[in-house]
Amino acid sequence: MFAKMKSIGAYIPEKILTNKDLEKIVDTDDEWITKRTGIKTRHIAEDEVTSDLAYKAALDALKNADMDANEIDMIILATISPDYFTMPSTACVVADKLGIVRPAVDIAAACTGFIYALAQAKAFIESGMYKNILIIGAETISKIVNWKDRTTCVLFGDGAGAAIINATENKEEAIIDIDINADGKYQDYLITPGRGVKYGCETDRIWLEMKGNETFKVAVKTLSQSVRDILERNNLTSDDIDWFVPHQANYRIIDAVARAIKMPKEKSILTVHKYGNTSSASIPMAINEMAKKGKIKKGDLMLLDAFGGGFTWGSALVPFN
Ligand code: COA
Repeated sequence: MFAKMKSIGAYIPEKILTNKDLEKIVDTDDEWITKRTGIKTRHIAEDEVTSDLAYKAALDALKNADMDANEIDMIILATISPDYFTMPSTACVVADKLGIVRPAVDIAAACTGFIYALAQAKAFIESGMYKNILIIGAETISKIVNWKDRTTCVLFGDGAGAAIINATENKEEAIIDIDINADGKYQDYLITPGRGVKYGCETDRIWLEMKGNETFKVAVKTLSQSVRDILERNNLTSDDIDWFVPHQANYRIIDAVARAIKMPKEKSILTVHKYGNTSSASIPMAINEMAKKGKIKKGDLMLLDAFGGGFTWGSALVPFN
């Protein structure tokens, strides 16, 4: 039994925050943000929390798969901005919103969360344990960034993406390979330092902090290695890839990794200018947008990559169905 990506869906909150808007909040300017990151706008959830975004993305993925929520065997949700501190998981809240009683779990792999969720769904399906798994990457990072810190608040945005991963006997449409990694020695580089038991469960230090420069360098190095590895071990080159769908953190990281594997610019999908870094949601949001525009078509081979806090990083070779 193989696992395939049967459908994709997304939900993006309405409110748009432009670089010009940010100029009124922190000491920054459109030129700096555009030049260093490629970001022009990001969407912000006002009255919604992460499970609301996740639920709407899940409904979209279910609709696109022509499936009812009752057909789902399990929910795996990746987020760094969960509804609650430790419990219940946001996945449980989403299951309730969908009206189903099924195994549901959150995973914390930061911006690599969607690729980790994909790997877990693939393993559950290939083992024969489940047939249909709903995976979701959902974030309201606007609620965990420090709006007084210009070095981070300009980078992130809110949104959610979801996919139905299901069992297939057809190898042609199956996920080919997934590469996931983590190295905790970088734990302090990208962190929300408060909250956990280490800090007496502080609730006033939830802000995301980042050593941007160092993060940039490790991201480019590890991502380039991961995409090279996954292509090599599957005897593929960038010529065999129809679409490079990188995590949308920063245009310069995407460009550097694309160059490392000689990926032509026209195959790289870019949405970071519109949505900023939406962490675990960015890859499914990007696939969804390009699929709805009719760019990504059935049978196209996608190369995904992502990098995030931990550090975690990974890549995946996924045909679009
Ligand atoms: N507006 C204006 N100036 C800013 C600014 C902002 N929003 N943020 C930082 N600056 C200033 C800094 O204070 C610094 O000023 P100084 O030289 O007077 O000290 C200057 O810009 C350069 O800062 P630096 O941090 O060296 O910039 P950079 O070229 O590394 O770019 C990032 C900063 C964050 C854009 C870049 O490091 C990056 O993209 N890192 C990776 C981030 C990322 O994608 N993380 C998520 C991974 S999932």
